[in-house]
Amino acid sequence: MLLILRLMSNKIRRKPKIVRKSFSIFVLLISFILFLQSCYQKKLIAPPTNLTFNEGFENPIGFYDATPSFSWKLPQEIDEQASYHLVAASTPELLSDSPDIWDTGKVSSSQSLYVSYEGKPLSSRDELYWKVQIWNTKGESSAWSEVAHMQLGLLNNEDWQAKWIGLDTRKDSIKGKNNTTIHTPQYLRNKFETNKELLSAKLYVTAKGVFKGFLNGKAISEDVMTPGWTPYQKRIESLTYDVTDMLQEGENVIGFQLASGWHFGRLLWNKMIWGQTGSPKILSQLEILYADGSKQVISSDKTWKGTTEGPIRFAEIYDGEIYDANFEMPRWATSSFEDANWRNVEITELDKTVKISPKRHHTVKTKMEMPAKNIIELENGTGIIFDFEQNMVGVPKLKVPMKKGDTLRVRFSEMLDPDGSFYTDNYRSAGSTDYYIASQDGMIDWYPIFTFHGFQYVELSGYDLSATPKKEWVTGLVQYSDFDKNGTFTSSHDKLNQLQSNINWGLRGNFFDIPTDCPQRDERLGWTGDAQVIAPTSIFNNDVHSFWSSWLQSVRESQYENGGIPFVVPDAVENNRVSAGWGDAAVIIPWAIYERTGDMTVLQENYQMMKNWVNYHQMQSEDNLSPMKDSFGDWLQPHPVKESNKRGDTSKKLIGTAFFAHSAHLTAKAAAVLGLLEEKEKYQNLYHTVANAFEQEFFDEEGKIKNSKATQTAYLLALDFELLSDANRNKAEKHLLDKIKEADNHLRTGFIGTPLLPRVLDTMGETDLMYEILLKETYPSWFYSINQGATTMWERWNSYSKLEGYNPESMNSLNHYAYGAVGEWMYERIAGIKPLEPGYKKTRIAPVPGGGLTSAEATYESPYGKIKSAWNLKGTSFYLEAIVPPNTSAIMSIPTSKKEAIIINGKQLKEWKNIKMVELTDGNISFEVSPGTYHVEAITNK
Ligand code: BGC
Repeated sequence: MLLILRLMSNKIRRKPKIVRKSFSIFVLLISFILFLQSCYQKKLIAPPTNLTFNEGFENPIGFYDATPSFSWKLPQEIDEQASYHLVAASTPELLSDSPDIWDTGKVSSSQSLYVSYEGKPLSSRDELYWKVQIWNTKGESSAWSEVAHMQLGLLNNEDWQAKWIGLDTRKDSIKGKNNTTIHTPQYLRNKFETNKELLSAKLYVTAKGVFKGFLNGKAISEDVMTPGWTPYQKRIESLTYDVTDMLQEGENVIGFQLASGWHFGRLLWNKMIWGQTGSPKILSQLEILYADGSKQVISSDKTWKGTTEGPIRFAEIYDGEIYDANFEMPRWATSSFEDANWRNVEITELDKTVKISPKRHHTVKTKMEMPAKNIIELENGTGIIFDFEQNMVGVPKLKVPMKKGDTLRVRFSEMLDPDGSFYTDNYRSAGSTDYYIASQDGMIDWYPIFTFHGFQYVELSGYDLSATPKKEWVTGLVQYSDFDKNGTFTSSHDKLNQLQSNINWGLRGNFFDIPTDCPQRDERLGWTGDAQVIAPTSIFNNDVHSFWSSWLQSVRESQYENGGIPFVVPDAVENNRVSAGWGDAAVIIPWAIYERTGDMTVLQENYQMMKNWVNYHQMQSEDNLSPMKDSFGDWLQPHPVKESNKRGDTSKKLIGTAFFAHSAHLTAKAAAVLGLLEEKEKYQNLYHTVANAFEQEFFDEEGKIKNSKATQTAYLLALDFELLSDANRNKAEKHLLDKIKEADNHLRTGFIGTPLLPRVLDTMGETDLMYEILLKETYPSWFYSINQGATTMWERWNSYSKLEGYNPESMNSLNHYAYGAVGEWMYERIAGIKPLEPGYKKTRIAPVPGGGLTSAEATYESPYGKIKSAWNLKGTSFYLEAIVPPNTSAIMSIPTSKKEAIIINGKQLKEWKNIKMVELTDGNISFEVSPGTYHVEAITNK
């Protein structure tokens, strides 16, 4: 355009003045229009934010994946992304000038999550910087996002020049409970020099056992019980720390405290799976880069020295820690310490079959500090009890006055007996006691580091009796895997809010590097059944995407050759036995994560395991019925016919066959997502065949259970897993309602049936009944345990009662998350946020008021951004505030039939041109909305 004007102006120069003047005005006008246009084009929309890798990692160092995926969030004002442009480079400078790793160019796509890497191959230690720019559907572009970064860890065993080192503590070990070997914790150190200008220093480290590292006397990190727990015979995780700022010119010292942890510690049934031979070891490689380009590597090798004469005298996960201050070695991890009487370490090469790979989820950390709320002085005056008014998991921080030579004994309990006495029977053989031996008079400042406890009460004895006890003496350090909170739920019902709090504390207490059944007794294992029932609820409450993906890797590595999945993962019991509903975690959890995160990787990674598991069901089935004789049944079902029957009354064969069909069904769905259409057909057919066999074997023509005991759980399995023909389904639903009525509208379900109850009743439109069951105060119910003082989820509906005290069974944990699975219904239906498409690409916002509640609210930080559903009810006036995040849509379902009374953001529904009505059978008014904040007013049917 400008060129044409210039050519014209040359010609016009020779024309009369008036023509020249009008031409100038014309040129000015055109220039102004061009200027306006360019301004319009340059108007930049806000850039994407929250750049992450894989399962949500922000700027990780020591990352585990050389082909990562990339995700970002859009600013709230953008409805939809039309295109993106992503660039990646090995330095921030190159990123702006000429990205040397990856440049996608402008890609026409709405994908903003898990974009797969297609750049230059990456290898150990490589760095990657990236940023992204997006366009909306109007063609407006954003500015570039801020730069995100990652650095890979050591991905291959060949990257390690360090050796496993440690003292042979087996020689001087003591015998523990049931003749187990108790290794005395050791201290290891090495001196080295740095004399040049430093660029960076990275420490790559792991242990067979658990470690805490020090550089020049300072702790390298506050991580707890690293490296964590994996199937050690296959894989040990390594950690990477940037220690550049911890080094000093001249002499430096690196040191480690090392204890048994899960690798060499005694675990359930004292089998010592990984600790039968050898002793705890450390593997440490400190890589220093100097400004002149040279590199120095300080590896764990034979030049290191060690001692077992340090202050930590004993440390076991179940039994606690003993710290003797008389053994303290001041400044042992600094260069001024003399280690002449320390022993030479033994060295071992890296085992070929055990892969050392970077940790793929967050370490355990101290996440909260809880002050003690009350002190109870014991009658005989020798001890005191600190009450935190919250059952929690972690260790106590002790600032307690002591007299030289005295031993402080620190005991733990989850609850007191009704007579006020300290109750520890439910720890079973776990000693769960810490000791501190004072080397001088005065205040100690100490907490154990190689053990953890489940407790609400701490009992101290052996402190300076002349001092007046203060609450400040003990602080509870709450420890769990370092994830953030993702979702919230509150309502107008106090006990429901307490239940939500108990669910959250159950998760905090049992996500200690792996998902555990309980955190306090001699178990604390990755029970697969408990994990599969809590997974959906956990993902809503916390950002546990990487936590689950990581544990699933351990499940894959633990799968038996015949496809069976062990009872617990990592497999600390190794008994080759398998249970339906437990092993099915291998299929149910990947699918649950995919549905809630939209991350296909979890299906790709686990698909083979899923197929192997379904194959296992098939191999041991007869006539398509899967008996699974070692099954745990509907574990801890209340009121079984025989009180001693922990496995409940539902037929094991019925449970096994139901899970066989269900796992085949989910595997078919996974195959469809992965584009494996033939396999999808195969598993779909298998599901139908098994469902058919199930119906023939267990249901008569009246939709009633035959050949086995009719239980709530039997009906729930048939209905939730869609195993009945159309003709039988409605009939079976009626029988389920009869069963519930028989129990005076109480549940009669254990671990397997309980999570299905809300789902099935909801699908049946029986939400009022579900509310009634949920809000029941009498046994068995969620509120029953709250009425008895529960601040976490309990293993049994009646683990404790104010009248009768503890359940006489010693298998009686007060921190067991399984029954917290009802949380899923609380946020999906009471508050109303449910994914309709994977990752909440489409959400259903469909709250169901009921149970006398006048309000409920949930927020959820979905992969696309914040979702909110908050409703309240005044008489029949219903008000809803909802937020739908960018790049997604939602079906909103309003509990009314009075369409004309619906007002959205001040405008009547019918005036909204771009809202699409959706016909659903639930009698509500439903419509599809785009991203935004909505204030909806309506008149309810009730
Ligand atoms: C655990 C459970 C587990 C069960 C299997 C128990 O000891 O604590 O939560 O699922 O065993 O039977």
